[in-house]
Amino acid sequence: MKILVINGPNLNLLGTRESDVYGTKTLDEINESLEKLAEELGVELDIRQSNHEGEIVDLIQKAKGCKALVINPAAYTHTSVAIRDAIAAVDIPAVEIHISNIYKREEFRHTSLISPVAYGQISGFGAESYVLGLRAAVSIAKNAQKGAS
Ligand code: DQA
Repeated sequence: MKILVINGPNLNLLGTRESDVYGTKTLDEINESLEKLAEELGVELDIRQSNHEGEIVDLIQKAKGCKALVINPAAYTHTSVAIRDAIAAVDIPAVEIHISNIYKREEFRHTSLISPVAYGQISGFGAESYVLGLRAAVSIAKNAQKGAS
């Protein structure tokens, strides 16, 4: 079972970027902990990061073989109809995650265009949001598989 993990713009800068908000873990360190958990849960990961909206749309469109998507759309959360539509177009459950609690921050971050097409959202648990997101995605994917058999 393969799970796709997508990170949006500026998340490649984790570790040095606004560490008071996003913590000090780098994206590589987060990815390492996800790979460990994936091994425990018996799933395979495809982990990507892009600063470009169209590239993220392409990744979602090509995700057909994946059983679930974990996505931190970063700033595109609040602006991207294209990423929203791509998630709606593919038949893959998506778990939207955020490191920070977007509802505690500036007003423009309170709106997510992604949430209405996501299975659910995890926001505000720091780097742990990724771990919780992967656990949620695997659970959804495994339940869907059970339901299908
Ligand atoms: C973020 C929250 C977004 O508002 C912001 O633009 C990001 C990161 C988070 O993980 O907390 O880049 O998605």
